[in-house]
Amino acid sequence: MIKETVSSGTTKASESARLQIGERSYELPILIGSEGERGIDITNLRTESSHIALDPGYGNTGSCLSTITFIDGERGILRYRGIPIEELAEHSNFVEVAYLLIFGRLPSKRESAEMTDEIASCELLHEDMKFHFEGFPATSHPMAILSSMINAAGCFQRELLEPYNPATFRILASRLLSQVRTIAAFTYRKSRGLPIIYPNPIYKYTANFLHMMFSMPHRDWEMHPEVVKALDLILLLHADHEQNCSTATVRMVASSRANLFASVAAGVCALWGPLHGGANQAVLEMLNEIHVAGDNGLGFIKEVKNGKRRLMGFGHRVYKNHDPRAKIIKRQCDELLNVLKKSDPLLDIAKRLEEIALSDSYFIDRKLYPNVDFYSGIIMRAIGIPLEMFTVIFAIGRMPGWIANYKEIASDQCARIARPRQIYIGPKLNHFIPRSERLEQEITDSASCSA
Ligand code: CMC
Repeated sequence: MIKETVSSGTTKASESARLQIGERSYELPILIGSEGERGIDITNLRTESSHIALDPGYGNTGSCLSTITFIDGERGILRYRGIPIEELAEHSNFVEVAYLLIFGRLPSKRESAEMTDEIASCELLHEDMKFHFEGFPATSHPMAILSSMINAAGCFQRELLEPYNPATFRILASRLLSQVRTIAAFTYRKSRGLPIIYPNPIYKYTANFLHMMFSMPHRDWEMHPEVVKALDLILLLHADHEQNCSTATVRMVASSRANLFASVAAGVCALWGPLHGGANQAVLEMLNEIHVAGDNGLGFIKEVKNGKRRLMGFGHRVYKNHDPRAKIIKRQCDELLNVLKKSDPLLDIAKRLEEIALSDSYFIDRKLYPNVDFYSGIIMRAIGIPLEMFTVIFAIGRMPGWIANYKEIASDQCARIARPRQIYIGPKLNHFIPRSERLEQEITDSASCSA
């Protein structure tokens, strides 16, 4: 039975959890979220019991209460502000979804137009930022440039870089949504030695990005509506995913009262890793490797089952059922290749791997299904987006989620700085040895899985 409401959308269960340590027993309240998720509130655990909870990788730890995104990984459900991802994919677009995530509800027609205008009005970078791009070696990964340039962009609007301020937040959010696109496209152009193409406000959000990526000074890129739709869908499907590694990073940085641009730049770095956003690039590399080797997929799956490889684009910390985004992306992938009259041997390999994996006990027992990254790379390849830009596209897509999560924590007067504890397992009290008495020893890597 449910008792009092604790904060909006959260109730406190009538029963509580009891923790017994030696002779003493501790009552721990149980909180219930609006979708029935239950959490044991251990806020006072250490103060009362002098014990902490240990949860490496945070698989069982709720770091916040949030109203933004709901995921039920067992049932394959994803909702932004309560709206199923399937409905948004069918009827909405990326900019509208950005509004929904950041401001909590779908915009009216007028609000939608205002948001589009705001984004268009701040799409240009400060002209001096062009020189910053010059400083990076041509071999730099675009995610490194993106993160640095987001921080640099913040320096050009210093008056707005105070900790969260409701009066300036909206314009800052629009600038970030708009400029991440410009930075991403400039990064690509620079890496290829191509002239920079400035944004053109006649294009909507995603079309404008494609324009900056692929147009030439003397010739605009031919804008295929199906291509714009497919890329917009990829952005929309990536727009938020509750407390994943990069979003948790943004919240962690924001909790120190760092500004929006700095918090989000940290999120870009977290996203870069191949177990997170970098997986879309890793999937294509894997498919290509299988293709070049002439493998029918079985050889690769054998290596995965032997623990030598990971099937990239498969598995998820939260989804133990189909990732609903993967289903939508797979459909869009087929549609796009059909419309463009293209075939891709890598798509055939991906489908074969999926078929093998979904009927193999290794994957079934571990509840490993294709995730959002399994097919998104094939769409991007069909559009002509180069491999090293895949994770950048993910970052553009995730921007609304990062901004919404930043706002949620930064505007919460009661939020505390995020500061996890640890269990120290290093040497006990040791004393300083003078340099002349120290022995030559090798540094051994002490990392192990047996924490
Ligand atoms: N291929 C083969 N085995 C796997 C895979 C995979 N892709 N994913 C998990 N496993 C196995 C893993 O070896 C372990 O087996 P065992 O119990 O025998 O040791 C078991 O499944 C549980 O795996 P885990 O590493 O404990 O799971 P996790 O929740 O820590 O990791 C994950 C989640 C997404 C990092 C992982 O599934 C993975 O590395 N997948 C491939 C990378 C990928 O596609 N990442 C994109 C995720 S979706 C986009 C995003 O939100 O970032």
